[in-house]
Amino acid sequence: MKDFAGRIAVITGGGTGMGRELARQLVAEGCNVAMCDVSAAAMTETRKLCEAGGLPQGLRVTTHVADVSDETQMLRFRDEIVEQQATDKIHLLFNNAGIGGGGSLILNTREQWEKTFNICWGGVYLGTRIFLPLLLRADQAHIVNTSSVNGFWASIGPSVPHTAYSAAKFAVKGFTEALIGDLRLNAPHVKCSVVMPGHIGTSIRTNSRRIQTGTDSDELTADEFARIRATLSAAGIDITAMTDADLQKEMDERARMFLEEAPTSAAAAAAIILDGVRAERWRILVGDDAHQLDRLVRDNPDQAYETSFFESLKNDIGWRLS
Ligand SMILES: NC(=O)c1ccc[n+]([C@@H]2O[C@H](COP(=O)([O-])OP(=O)(O)OC[C@H]3O[C@@H](n4cnc5c(N)ncnc54)[C@H](O)[C@@H]3O)[C@@H](O)[C@H]2O)c1
Repeated sequence: MKDFAGRIAVITGGGTGMGRELARQLVAEGCNVAMCDVSAAAMTETRKLCEAGGLPQGLRVTTHVADVSDETQMLRFRDEIVEQQATDKIHLLFNNAGIGGGGSLILNTREQWEKTFNICWGGVYLGTRIFLPLLLRADQAHIVNTSSVNGFWASIGPSVPHTAYSAAKFAVKGFTEALIGDLRLNAPHVKCSVVMPGHIGTSIRTNSRRIQTGTDSDELTADEFARIRATLSAAGIDITAMTDADLQKEMDERARMFLEEAPTSAAAAAAIILDGVRAERWRILVGDDAHQLDRLVRDNPDQAYETSFFESLKNDIGWRLS
């Protein structure tokens, strides 16, 4: 699909980050957008930003509160789109919503682990299944599933367990790659892409924590303090001299750095994703760090989880998330 004008795009997780930027850039190109998120307030802001330059006559930007891991809510989201966008088809589906957390099978609860997995993988699966009939009815359509560099490398660094997110993102990548052949055989007018961003400047750390704990507060809970201490001590990092207030400050600073000091902004990431869709690329790496990591893992698969590999990530590509 070379041109998005007059098309209808569905974006999950449109409230902030890359989802918000995809919405803004698609609307700027004259594409109708229907987005869902768990945060109505965040979507109101996205919608405001989309409308800031004035919407062309007849263009629709609709917002829908829905949790991508809940089938009933996703079915309602689809039904609302059919009604509010007055359509029986969609052209673009961005399965973008995702959260981190649930990193350790040992330290996290099963509930925390499955929350991350069910949003990051279940949301992509449900989104694809539920919207497929609407995609099949379009003359051309494209499914864009957001994985991560954690879809080909199951770590962010030696001191941070990352099992739920990595398992989900590998699933998204495998599913989307398998979908290429299925679509080619059975629905050749529908294409698909897997998106694998490196470090992108968004509020995903803060949003994930809030969704995992079910609060709007940024204050760490007693459980979180205990888990952070256990994680760091397992990694051989001595933080006995740090008070909870020191730890809170450190975590706030990491969230700020993640957002403000990333090598790629959310807007730049969205532009790369949309270019990839126009070029019908099935794999869309986002950011120089993602390209470099892809190459490093391919060159050294046996070393990918060894200290020397983490060191070269830090030194050669400036990886700062470990
Ligand atoms: N930021 C990065 O460095 C990075 C890197 C690789 C992959 N990703 C992936 O990119 C995607 C977008 O992330 P982002 O960085 O823009 O984060 P973000 O937190 O800014 O945006 C994600 C949005 O999804 C929403 N969301 C979360 N759970 C939801 C649910 N159950 N149902 C509906 N909406 C939900 C959040 O409220 C938020 O608005 C995610 O899948 C993420 O895993 C991000």
